Order: sequence, then structure tokens, then C-alpha cells
Amino acid sequence: MFDLIVRHANLPDGREAMDIALNAGRIVAIERGITAEAREVIDATGLLVAPPFCDPHFHMDATLSLGLPRLNRSGTLLEGIALWGELRPTLTVEAVVERALRYCDLAVAQGLLAIRSHVDISDPRLVTVEGLLAVREAVKDYIDLQLVAFPQDGYFRAPGAVDSLNRALDMGVEIVGGIPHFERTMDDGARSVAALCRIAADRGLRVDMHCDETDDPLSRHIETLAAETVRHGLEGRVVGSHLTSMHSMDNYYVSKLIALMAEAKVHAVANPLINIMLQGRHDTYPKRRGMTRVPELLKAGINVGFGHDCVMDPWYAMGSGDMLEVGGMAIHVAQMGSIEDRLRVFDILTNGNATAMGLEDYGLEKGKKADLVVLQARDPVEALRLRANRLAVIKGGKVIARAERRVSALALPGRPGSVDGALYAPAVKIAG
Ligand code: FE2
Repeated sequence: MFDLIVRHANLPDGREAMDIALNAGRIVAIERGITAEAREVIDATGLLVAPPFCDPHFHMDATLSLGLPRLNRSGTLLEGIALWGELRPTLTVEAVVERALRYCDLAVAQGLLAIRSHVDISDPRLVTVEGLLAVREAVKDYIDLQLVAFPQDGYFRAPGAVDSLNRALDMGVEIVGGIPHFERTMDDGARSVAALCRIAADRGLRVDMHCDETDDPLSRHIETLAAETVRHGLEGRVVGSHLTSMHSMDNYYVSKLIALMAEAKVHAVANPLINIMLQGRHDTYPKRRGMTRVPELLKAGINVGFGHDCVMDPWYAMGSGDMLEVGGMAIHVAQMGSIEDRLRVFDILTNGNATAMGLEDYGLEKGKKADLVVLQARDPVEALRLRANRLAVIKGGKVIARAERRVSALALPGRPGSVDGALYAPAVKIAG
């Protein structure tokens, strides 16, 4: 008697009518026609069942603070940072926790069960750190929440940030962040990358830096980050987040840079919604897209992730915790429109993001954690196209969120009485 069996599922790799048996928190079998019984059975006939979505780049200390203390009128990154600087001294632990927990509720409903959040350490009170450490503990049974010590106002530029970052790590924040393009000079930026990688190496921690989030083609801190990664033997443990300057760099320089990033096994995390909203702001026309060179990075064998970055905060008024919206934007901005590309994008939202985060025992395989999402779509490209409804979200073999099928009743002469978005188009045949 298993805990739960999901029957007749379509899998992201194209296999159909597969049964998935879950027991004692693990996937114990994925095969056709499992005869054993289970305490709970979910009929997923014709529905996609995937591992949960992961978000490798988010700001949970700022989420859902839209309008506090005022709205971002210019819509720029820099006004967002200034606005956050106004809000930050007024924050309380309780307010940070309350907003973050509300976001986690939303995330669970969207099948988003692993989130890496940057946490701003610029205010020496470290209210944000205290709050998010409490949230990490509160949600640990259903969300894998990773925290990055993030010096939003600059590691060398903001008074006290060097000390605050160390204190945040001492308190239990487990990843070292940075923002080299926001330091006073290029040289300070490069020194900050070196200093922060040294801290990570000494403490045995991972690194995840906001890196070159600018349209300046000469912002080349990703080069320093990759070189420091190799110097300290941190290969596979470092993420370069945003990397938007790469969009505008000289092609010859990028050909050398991408090879260095591949050598360093640096993960590249783009944030498609925020990149398309914030980059190119100094352009008239044509306006740059600004997102990093995702197809080229993938072609070089570099692991790419896609993050949500912001939901209703000083930088971004939109968003809903839906990683399929993130993927949909990535498809458009990177022009990844082929069938192979769209399947790749779905894979990034799940496996690619999990790899960037270093998650263990993640994935749709026997022996991995019993974490699944049942989607109201027949395959990954349909899920992306429709931003498919999450019919069931399963964590540790237990259903922790459910939704009704989305069906619209129609009152049209001579037409069917209802329409289900998933049935608008023929399913894609994926080689299984
Ligand atoms: Fe960010």
C-alpha cells in the first residue's frame, strides 16, 4: 500500500499513460500499469505531471510591498533601489514575515516549491535577515527556501555592509551575494567580487551575485566572477544573476567570455520579466531587449536558470509567482520559439533552476523526492502557452494544493457548451 499513486500521467519527456507511485516521501516507481494500491489516487489521464517549479532568483524581503511608501514613477532600476532605501528603515520583522508567508502561499498554489531569495543586508538592523530566517523555518516542510546575503547598496559602497554581510552569514544565511556593478568604480566592483568569493571559499558556501545588471557593454564583472570561481575551486557552486550587460557586449569579447564561464561551470540566471522591463531604459529607438544571451550560453553547455526576481515590489508592479509566465517571457525575449527551444524552457523552469540552486534529490525519477505538479495541459509546450492551471501540487507524497479544472461554459448557437483551454490545439508529439 503506497501513500499516493498518480495514474496515466503524461511526462515532460513525452512518455504517456505513466503511473507514478509515491511512498515515504520518495518516488518509488514510474511505470505503466502499477497494480499496487495506494491510500490516495489521482487520475491524471491526459495531463502533464512534472517536478515542481523552482525559482533561482527572488527578493522575498521586498515582495508584495508595492506602493510602500510610494510607487516607482520612472519605472527604473535606480528609482526602485532608492525607493527600497526609503522603505527599508521602516521595516519590521513582523511585516517582512507576513508578506513573505503570503507570497509562499501563492507559490505553493502555483507548484513553486523551491525558491532562492536574496535578502538585503544593507540595513545594519538586519530586520530582513531575521524575518526571512524565520520564514525559511516556517515553510521548511513545503518550500525549500534558500537565502543569499545581498548587499543591495554595494559591499564596499554602503557603510557597514562588510560587517553586516558577515553577521548575516553568522546568523544562518547560506549563500554569498554581491552587486559589483553598483560599487563606486569598476575597480571596486572587481575587488568586491574577489572579496566575496574569498568569503565563500573560506566558509564553504555557494555564491550568487547580481552581476552586470546594466546595459553597459563594458560592465565585465562576470569575467572576474568566473576567474575567481576557478581560483577558489568553486566550480559549479557560483551563479551569475542577470548578466544583462552581455546582451550589449562586443561579439568577439563574448566568444572568449562564454568559454571562461563554461570552464568555471558558472550558472547563468536570467530574469526575463524584469530584464525586459528594466533594461534599455536609456535607449530611444531601437530599444535593446537587455536579457543575457541565453541560446548562446546553452549552446556552450552552461546551465541556465530563469528567475522571477520580483513580484509587486519597488522594481516591478506585476507578477503572480507563476514560473510559466517567466518561461513565456523568456521564449519571447530570447526568441526561443522552436519546439525544441520551448521544451528546453520548460526544462529550465524545473531541472535547470534546480541545478542552479544545487537542489538534492530533485526530479521526476525513481528514488527522488515525492514532489510533483499535475497541470491542466497535455505537454510542456501547452503548459507554457496556457500558463496551465495547477490541478494538484504534491509535496513529500501529500497533496498540499488543489484547483478545479478551468472550463468556460459557452452560450453560443450551434457551438459546444463549454471550452477547456487545453483542448484548443492538437497536442505536440514528443519523442518518448
Ligand atoms: Fe534580483
